[in-house]
Amino acid sequence: MKLTIIGSGYVGLTTGACFAEVGHEVKCVDNDAEKIKTLLRGEIPIYEPGLADLVKQNVAAGRLTFTTSTPEGVEHGDVVFIAVPTPPNPDGSVDLKYIEKVAREIAPAINSYKVIVDKSTVPVKTGEKVTETIQRYAPEAEFDVVSNPEFLREGSAVADLMKPDRIVFGSNSDRASALMKKVYEPFVAPLLVTDINSAELIKHAANSFLALKISYINAISAICEASNADVELVAEGIGMDSRIGRSFLNAGLGYGGSCFPKDLAAFIAISDQLGVPFDLLKEVQKINQRQLERFVDRIRESLWVLDEKKIAVWGLAFKPNTDDLRCSVAIELVEKLVAEGARVTAYDPKGMERMRDLPIGSQIELAESPEAAARGAEALVIATEWPEFSHLDFPAVKESMQSPLLFDGRNLLDPETMRKYGFEYHGIGRGV
Ligand code: UGA
Repeated sequence: MKLTIIGSGYVGLTTGACFAEVGHEVKCVDNDAEKIKTLLRGEIPIYEPGLADLVKQNVAAGRLTFTTSTPEGVEHGDVVFIAVPTPPNPDGSVDLKYIEKVAREIAPAINSYKVIVDKSTVPVKTGEKVTETIQRYAPEAEFDVVSNPEFLREGSAVADLMKPDRIVFGSNSDRASALMKKVYEPFVAPLLVTDINSAELIKHAANSFLALKISYINAISAICEASNADVELVAEGIGMDSRIGRSFLNAGLGYGGSCFPKDLAAFIAISDQLGVPFDLLKEVQKINQRQLERFVDRIRESLWVLDEKKIAVWGLAFKPNTDDLRCSVAIELVEKLVAEGARVTAYDPKGMERMRDLPIGSQIELAESPEAAARGAEALVIATEWPEFSHLDFPAVKESMQSPLLFDGRNLLDPETMRKYGFEYHGIGRGV
């Protein structure tokens, strides 16, 4: 099929490349001319495992093309996906100006029946607004709007798209539904077709539930610390109940990234607007914030004063296998340490370049390796659970440090082994 993706960020580019991989003819549109130039050279502007090869192969095969022109894109695709950013307003609600702008740009370019698919994460009832907008700017246009939430995770986006848990789309038209089924025919996954509003809600409800799971186990981690229990065992014990499940019960510094914090705030805002406040989610946010504060308190308790202390931080990305630093709890942690006068030396396998571009990047030292960051440090903090951080020569790391304090903010390491090596180990919710 001929498909168009408007917006070539994480979601748009990965979706476009995967659609091309299964045989569709895909045109990706982005208004950032530099980005399109980069993509035309066969390079990708983000780090996402497997994506660069997929883009290169499909560009070479002629199934994946790029343009800065929305009309050209709309003309190409029978199905046009909108995957533009939906940033937050200061009050947490979603700023839908990019969606509205794309809807306005699409409208006059509609030259035959089109399915306009919203892939960006948006509050419920946005589909209705997109329909109204296109109708206003192109009263004669023949089209249907569909909501098709994505469930890909950064770091495993390609795998999530090629082998999804489920495919959900919301459509109020049989004609549009039939085309959408054809788009997804090559993917083997359970399909749920709903109305548009339900599909929009599924996305916010799913992300909020996952964030709730994380805050739930983090709240339990605080109880474990106060009662000398081990949150890893508690998570295992409750996760063995198939109704609960073990995934997303990893206690740590809390959730970050470009999705959960924003989507929770947006879901709270739209619920308020609809007159049905979702206070449970406000508590989820509070627990997430407290989790980091409690961690900094523990570092301070050990070091007494943070001013002038040399602290090594391993991990800056909001999770492993990505270079994305947006709303990273690791960055928030670094900011808190620096604000109290600590001298931070940090290392991240993929996030160093982006860190240099952040204001906080110039206030810390960036090391060439995890070992180099730890050298001479009075405390070592693990803020992102990159797998390579667990395979290092820890006795040598310990020897190189000024004092062997280890704060494992992601419960990556085995406490007993680390204590055997001579570290004073502090994990999350792992007793005293
Ligand atoms: C999340 C969802 O998992 C995807 O299904 C969704 O499509 C995506 O948002 C989106 O809305 O686009 P993502 O933000 O890429 O994906 O990453 P996650 O793997 O969900 O992790 C989010 C945060 O939660 C990270 O900071 C991670 O460290 C944290 N986390 C995750 C925990 O603290 N504990 C866990 O057990 C799991």
